[in-house]
Amino acid sequence: MLAMLVILALAGEIVPVKLIYIEPDVGVGGNVSERQYAYMVQIQSFMVVDYVHHCGGTLLTASCILTAAHCAGHSLKLRAQAGTVWSNSETEGQRRPIVRMVAHERYIQDGVTRPYDIALALVEHPFVVDGVNVVIVPLLPEYLKPPETMDVLGFGKIDHDDTLPDRLQIVECRFHSPSDCQRHPTEGTLCVGRPGATACQGDSGGPVVATIDGVDWLVGVISFGLKKSCGAGPIICTDVLAYSDWIKQGVLNFTNTQ
Ligand SMILES: *[C@@H]1O[C@H](CO)[C@@H](O)[C@H](O)[C@H]1NC(C)=O
Ligand SMILES: *[C@@H]1O[C@H](CO)[C@@H](O)[C@H](O)[C@H]1NC(C)=O
Repeated sequence: MLAMLVILALAGEIVPVKLIYIEPDVGVGGNVSERQYAYMVQIQSFMVVDYVHHCGGTLLTASCILTAAHCAGHSLKLRAQAGTVWSNSETEGQRRPIVRMVAHERYIQDGVTRPYDIALALVEHPFVVDGVNVVIVPLLPEYLKPPETMDVLGFGKIDHDDTLPDRLQIVECRFHSPSDCQRHPTEGTLCVGRPGATACQGDSGGPVVATIDGVDWLVGVISFGLKKSCGAGPIICTDVLAYSDWIKQGVLNFTNTQ
C-alpha cells in the first residue's frame, strides 16, 4: 500500500493537509487506552444532519482548545468532543459547541497551508476537567529539552479509501531536519516523522506530545505534509514554543471575554 502511495503521488508536491491521517497498521502503541492523552479533543463540524469529524485539537484550559488555523472556517458550525478515545461518540465523553475561533492574524486563509497555522477555539461552557478522563496539557517550556520521540495523535484517515477510525490513533515520531520537509515554510515549524507512518488527512490541528518523566507536554500542532509522504514520511507541525506568547495572550483574551 505504501509503495502504491509513492507511485500515485507527485514528487515534492506540497498539499495543504486539511484532513490528515495516521497509518493504522504501523501506529506504535496501536489503540490508545481510555485514560491516555485525555487532553485530546476532536473538533466536529455539522454536515447536513449530524456532526462529523473535522480536525484534532488539544485542551489547554477547561474552555480553550489549540488547533490549526486551517481548521477554522467562518461558515462552519463546530463543536468539540473531549473525554473519550471514540470518534463521534454519542454516549461517551463530553461535547460543547465552539463559540469562537481565533486564527493567527498572519495566517492566510486561502486554502493553501502557510506558516502561522495555529488557532484557538473557545467552547460555550467549560469541559469538566476531572484529571482522569479530561485533563489539560501544558506547553513544553523552553528549559526542557524535548525527548527524541514524540507521539502524534489523531482521528484522521487510516487508509486510502478515506476510512476514518473509530478510535484515536497514535504514531511515535522523531524530529527530522527541516530539509526532510522540503520547501516548507520554516517560521515556527517542526518537521517530524517516522519511516512508514505519520499523520495525513483528518489529523490536522491535533497534538504532538513529548513525555518526560511520565509528564506529557505539548510540542506541536499537526499542520500539513507533502503529498508523497502522506502516511509515509515526515509532516510539518506548528512549533508551539514559537507561538507561546500568542497562545498565552489568546487564552487570556478568551478568559477576559467570558
Ligand atoms: C483497536 O480497537 C478497535 C475497536 O475496538 C479494534 O477493531 C482494533 O482491532 C484494535 N486495534 C488494535 C491494534 O488493538
Ligand atoms: C488579544 O486581544 C488583543 C486586544 O484586543 C488583540 O490585539 C490580540 O490580537 C488578541 N490576541 C489573540 C491571540 O487573540
